[in-house]
Amino acid sequence: MANFRITASQPPLVGDAIVETVVLADGQKVIGQATWFTSGTDGHASVLQVSVDPNFGRQGHGAAIVKKVIQRAKGHFESRGGRLRRVTINAEQKSQVVGRAFLTKLGFHHVGTLSNVLVKQDLMVYSLGCD
Ligand SMILES: CC(C)(COP(=O)(O)OP(=O)(O)OC[C@H]1O[C@@H](n2cnc3c(N)ncnc32)[C@H](O)[C@@H]1OP(=O)(O)O)[C@@H](O)C(=O)NCCC(=O)NCCS
Repeated sequence: MANFRITASQPPLVGDAIVETVVLADGQKVIGQATWFTSGTDGHASVLQVSVDPNFGRQGHGAAIVKKVIQRAKGHFESRGGRLRRVTINAEQKSQVVGRAFLTKLGFHHVGTLSNVLVKQDLMVYSLGCD
């Protein structure tokens, strides 16, 4: 049975900032993972990466992992008297078309496009409102 495990950065970051990796695994087999960051003060969680082993794709694992990240981020802010406001994540315009469909399905909106960051493609910024 698949379970989540959480790995926080060691040593911990300064103040309320945190970097955490959420890993979904079945025993020793890693199904997928996501890493997120917050400075800890402003209700913003930034997902740095999310990926699922292609052998386990399209079974809802990616959505479950992002849901877990949101749950962790909510807990982080609420334990400090605040609340989660926004989750953002970047997607590569051409090489992460599936990732973009994935984010749209999860309710993220494309809110910006960064040019001259990647080679021969744009970097697209997606945001999910949580308030
Ligand atoms: C994007 C990724 C994390 C999705 O993981 P996953 O476990 O397959 O996703 P889920 O099964 O939870 O899919 C949720 C929704 O995403 C979309 N989706 C997922 N895989 C898709 C595919 N191959 N084609 C089209 N849409 C897809 C669908 O809308 C799907 O909902 P549905 O199955 O009800 O139609 C995975 O494909 C991956 O690791 N890709 C490479 C890395 C990457 O692009 N990361 C995201 C950067 S933003």
